[in-house]
Amino acid sequence: MHEDSKAILVVEDSATQAERLRLILEQQGYRVAAARNGREALSAMAREKPQLVISDIIMPEIDGYQLCRLIRADRDLKHTPVILLTALSDPADVIKALECGADNFIVKPYDEPNLLSRIHLFETNRDLRNLEAVQPPLEIVFQGQKYLVNSDRLQILNLLLSTYEAAVAQNTQLLQTQQQLQRLTEALEDQVNQRTAALSEEVAVRRRAEEALRASEQNLRFLSSQLLTAQEQERRRLSLELHDELGQSLILLKLQLRNIERNLPPDQVQLRQDSLDGLHFIDEIIENVRRLSRELRPSMLEDLGLSSALRQLTGEFSRRSGLEIAAQVEEIDDLFSPDAQINIFRIFQESLTNIGKYAHADRLLVAAKKQDGQVQFLVEDDGDGFDLAQVKTRDPGHKGLGLTAMAERVRMLGGALQISSREGVGTQISFTIPTAPFPAPNP
Ligand SMILES: Nc1ncnc2c1ncn2[C@@H]1O[C@H](COP(=O)(O)OP(=O)(O)OP(=O)(O)O)[C@@H](O)[C@H]1O
Ligand SMILES: [Mg+2]
Repeated sequence: MHEDSKAILVVEDSATQAERLRLILEQQGYRVAAARNGREALSAMAREKPQLVISDIIMPEIDGYQLCRLIRADRDLKHTPVILLTALSDPADVIKALECGADNFIVKPYDEPNLLSRIHLFETNRDLRNLEAVQPPLEIVFQGQKYLVNSDRLQILNLLLSTYEAAVAQNTQLLQTQQQLQRLTEALEDQVNQRTAALSEEVAVRRRAEEALRASEQNLRFLSSQLLTAQEQERRRLSLELHDELGQSLILLKLQLRNIERNLPPDQVQLRQDSLDGLHFIDEIIENVRRLSRELRPSMLEDLGLSSALRQLTGEFSRRSGLEIAAQVEEIDDLFSPDAQINIFRIFQESLTNIGKYAHADRLLVAAKKQDGQVQFLVEDDGDGFDLAQVKTRDPGHKGLGLTAMAERVRMLGGALQISSREGVGTQISFTIPTAPFPAPNP
């Protein structure tokens, strides 16, 4: 058997691991022989005695511990140092290594400088090791189990030192990882704090914007309801003015003209005819002024009450438009305040005006029905219909006020409005208004 001072036997069942070791060692000038398990290793050692054996532990047939034991039992091979490759996850690994007479550990995954420094250690201590006298086996008990350690003192020392070194290395790594983790946690906490601060600022800004929006919406609502009320008062004033001032003046004018006509000499035929034409014309003006005054102030509401006023309004609309109208209006006269009645009447007026202007309908249904403390109103046509979303998003210059005013009036009365329309099918305007006691308008 020949011995090469630079020969290392690598015992490893993983081909990739074995190849990696071979490359590292060959780069350092060692000659590397490889075996895939304990049995192959013993045959290889019988052919050529290596300077050092590096062996994996878990291998088929003969494992690393067993291989080590067999080497120690062999007269020729017993002084060959054995380094075991281990993950060192169990303290019993150390005892087992001592027991089988291993010299050192290399902890997997190993780094190259560490591996090489272990090998150099054996080269330096080779002579020392062979001088050691044979010691009696040492008996130790670990975790309730008895082990017999045959290794010499140097072996034990080396093995324990390598174990300690590995533990220290692992510990250092652990500390570094812990510090890194601590730094990461702090950075994360910082980020979370910054984000939380930014978020609460965003929330505060949004809340302020929402409050401002709500306030301005409330102002707008207030303004529009004031506007509708002012409009109603102005209409009433104009109506009275037309009726009382203009109407009276026209009647006076008519009386004067009649007086003139009566006092004309009989031969003034032409003048008499002109006067009669004038009188006729004044009558037409008076009638127009009356109509204007009526339209401005829904006097039929005061004269007839809400139910009859609604029936009359639809009746007149039917006569003018030639539409077939079904009116199902229940008696609701005393259920609303005078102001509420005017608003309800105006909603009907606007609905009918829109139908006259746009719907091209054949049939119309108008209804007012009492129902648990509220009245359900309905105006339904079978006309052209329209795209409500499109109408709502028209730019203000082209947007009518009718539907908006309707919604505002319903809101002022604490009710709910629903407009549904389908092109080619028709339009339905329905709203419910609570009866007395009259609640405050929706905010
Ligand atoms: N019954 C209906 N059938 C078909 N289209 C309708 C009907 N009612 C409303 N519309 C459509 O909805 C639009 C908006 O109606 P809205 O009453 O708000 O305004 P407007 O009638 O155009 O103007 P304003 O009422 O101010 O005189 C109308 O221009 C029309 O296109
Ligand atoms: Mg309109």
